[in-house]
Amino acid sequence: MYLTKEEEQILNGEAGETLRQAIEILVSLGDIYGADRLIPIKSAQIAGVSYKTIGDAGLEWISDLNGKVKVPSILNPAGMDLEDWERLCIPHGFAEKQKLIVQAYERLGVCCECTCTPYTLEGFDVGYGDHLAWSESSAVSYSNSVIGARTNREGGPSALSAALVGKTANYGFHLNENRIPEISIDVEFSLKESDYGALGYVAGKLLGSKVPVFHLKDIPKKDELKALGAAMAASGAVALYHVSGVTPDICKLNFEDPAEEITIERDQLESVYDSRRKACREPELITIGCPHCSAAELGKIVQLLEGKTVLKELWIFTSRELAGRYPDYVRSIEKSGAKVVCDTCMVVSPATDSYSCVMVNSGKAFAYVPGMCGAEAVYGNMEACIGEATGDAACIKEKKAGGSY
Ligand code: F3S
Repeated sequence: MYLTKEEEQILNGEAGETLRQAIEILVSLGDIYGADRLIPIKSAQIAGVSYKTIGDAGLEWISDLNGKVKVPSILNPAGMDLEDWERLCIPHGFAEKQKLIVQAYERLGVCCECTCTPYTLEGFDVGYGDHLAWSESSAVSYSNSVIGARTNREGGPSALSAALVGKTANYGFHLNENRIPEISIDVEFSLKESDYGALGYVAGKLLGSKVPVFHLKDIPKKDELKALGAAMAASGAVALYHVSGVTPDICKLNFEDPAEEITIERDQLESVYDSRRKACREPELITIGCPHCSAAELGKIVQLLEGKTVLKELWIFTSRELAGRYPDYVRSIEKSGAKVVCDTCMVVSPATDSYSCVMVNSGKAFAYVPGMCGAEAVYGNMEACIGEATGDAACIKEKKAGGSY
């Protein structure tokens, strides 16, 4: 792998031990994956933030680093709301460790906005063709697929290394040849909202890490694409997908349709919704916001909760920046007794671990909650989730009649 003179000096330790370690990680990855050189990145999004997932070993590693990131860098969700962690009964010991992790990142110059939807943040611009080093799988999928930026699914250490060096190794999804669709997926029925999360959950299991191109009947909204990609990255390992006539690479790069082709039928999606009817327990907790809610999603929740009171715990996850921009939405939602929670999510927070059945409207949360939180997960659309939380009669009637969620 070719290194400039300056990069060689960093690798020799002439810019300090932290940068030496950082570039060594990047060069090792580049050597493994056949990169020709390091390329500049526009931004980094760094996973490995929740104390629940990185523990004391992760805290120690980050705390030992010195230096400053060279590009705008933000964090993945932490294990708790950093300003109001007591509301979800986070243990004090956990909170203390979590604060130390965030402070260690702050010392490195990382902006401590903790979100998996960095592309929604004002001032954190990302555009077509930008090279990035992002970690969180749904953010990676969204940036590659919907924006047409270029990033591999970085681990926490490699994303932080890229942020410190300002570069990443040129391999994988940074190169056109790895962005070619490998399999066509035909969906010949109309989809709406939560169907995209269910479709992603089903498709991810079939795809593994292949790059698919979807042929859909309708043009999806941005939040629907977000849900589709997040679910595929969780039930499978899809980091890039295309939607014929919609996503930018497929429109600009003249890819040929792949020879391999599959069709996904409506009843495959129904099996995901069926989780509610087949659940061993009633949901005790309802969570929305995986990935973190957009302004449009918060607005819809406001409408659905208007004049209602929640009877079960209802947690809505979004970024702190977005919650700050839409205080009226937050106030309206919380008037119902629901909680708007920032900086964290139902999967990486220990708060979820004390519930035995969690209802979600996210294919990604549906895939991760059982393994990461030890709870049964059931799937429903946003209306069904709000209905479950408020005891809404229409939702319960539909449930008894065996209707679709
Ligand atoms: Fe984001 Fe947590 Fe889901 S990080 S994508 S809300 S699992």
